[in-house]
Amino acid sequence: MMKEKSHCFTSDEVDIFRRNLLSWYDKNKRDLPWRKQVDNPDTDQRAYAVWVSEVMLQQTQVATVIDYYNKWMKRWPTLQDLALAQLEDVNEMWSGLGYYSRGRRLYEGTKKVVDKLEGRMPRTAADLMKTLPGVGRYTAGAIASIAFNQVTGVVDGNVIRVLARLRCIGADSSSQTTMDSFWSLANDSVDLERPGDFNQAVMELGATVCTPKNPSCSKCPLTAVCRAFKQTEDHKQQSARKLVKRDANKNKVLDIECCAEPCSLCLGKEEPWDSSLGVANYPRKAKKKAARIETTAVCLICQKNRHEPDKFFIVQRPTKGLLAGMWEFPSQIQPKDAPPPDMLCITNDKYGISVHNIKEKIPVGQVSHIFSHIHQTYTVEAVTIAGDDIDEQLIVDGTRWVTKQQFMEAAVSTAMKKVFKAYEKTVEDNKKGVKRKRQISGETTEKRKQTAILSFFKQTTS
Ligand code: ADE
Repeated sequence: MMKEKSHCFTSDEVDIFRRNLLSWYDKNKRDLPWRKQVDNPDTDQRAYAVWVSEVMLQQTQVATVIDYYNKWMKRWPTLQDLALAQLEDVNEMWSGLGYYSRGRRLYEGTKKVVDKLEGRMPRTAADLMKTLPGVGRYTAGAIASIAFNQVTGVVDGNVIRVLARLRCIGADSSSQTTMDSFWSLANDSVDLERPGDFNQAVMELGATVCTPKNPSCSKCPLTAVCRAFKQTEDHKQQSARKLVKRDANKNKVLDIECCAEPCSLCLGKEEPWDSSLGVANYPRKAKKKAARIETTAVCLICQKNRHEPDKFFIVQRPTKGLLAGMWEFPSQIQPKDAPPPDMLCITNDKYGISVHNIKEKIPVGQVSHIFSHIHQTYTVEAVTIAGDDIDEQLIVDGTRWVTKQQFMEAAVSTAMKKVFKAYEKTVEDNKKGVKRKRQISGETTEKRKQTAILSFFKQTTS
């Protein structure tokens, strides 16, 4: 696959890579809950634990995942437990982790393993990928290597960074050819005896030492085989000796050649070596697709009750698409540049709740949230109504009245929780504003009284 020799490992280099990395990992690996399953003799159970953790770890930091993982495993300790769960509960448990289809597919996958495969997980990366919904090349490689000891590599963001630096790969990693090169490198270098540990060690090194910014090369066990480290040292020496060739026009340091022939994996001419970055010249940032900009009108209806907590009206999203099956305040995407619609009217029509006797209208304003590919701005308006304005018996499927606590525990996205927080802040600010106004008007009344008394005395004494 990869013809350019300077971007591959020699067999001596691979030996050093494996030995140094694993010995570093043995001393430095973090004590993470899913790693406690490594010695479980039940391989299906081990695979389930790895599956849950790896799906949660996609796009989410380890520190955030730990709590979710522990709660999840407490509630559904086995494949069989999860297969018997309700999707609603799965979504609830996933709430706050984002990319909600991950949780749903994990759940559907366990159902398949239990119902169709008699609870036996596929044993190889190829079979895992073929059989289980949502299991791509990375997750399949991780489960197969960590749970079943299959000698197969993995490539995620951390691995890309480590490999790009080790082998000076400066090509755009959003391109398929570059990704193929990373997969070849990962598969060729994975340790033959401890593939699962090796893969976790590369990710661990990427997360803790070979970080995107300010990497700690002085603590790295791989500097002996790191070409980016060598290139950085060469550049430093060249500059010290003032032997740096400079581009006459642009006054930029010319690249220290990596390959003899022009090569598709080297740093591109348009992005030459930047001395201030050192090894962090690699990997080159993937070109991001421009995010879609969207505005959504949101209607937050708060039902005020005299002897009970406030209740809020929420509705369930369709079972397909973004945030499938999650709950939210009634919302409607707005066409570009359109004036805000009458959301209460739309909500009444759509869900037949007939809310008319509004006590108060509270303009909450705008709340922004960035989903992976959408910059969403919610335009939020809240209305409060009296509890007896609503007949809860008439509530249709896919809608609920919930207390704040129920809302927080429901399958609700982080974006909607932000909307709720903004609402609470507005209510709080409004209360403070009223108090302040009262105080101010109190002062003037007092002053007015004093002025009146003074003028009375002035009049009587003159
Ligand atoms: N990131 C994703 N999976 C990981 C793992 N198993 N160990 C360390 N970092 C990871």
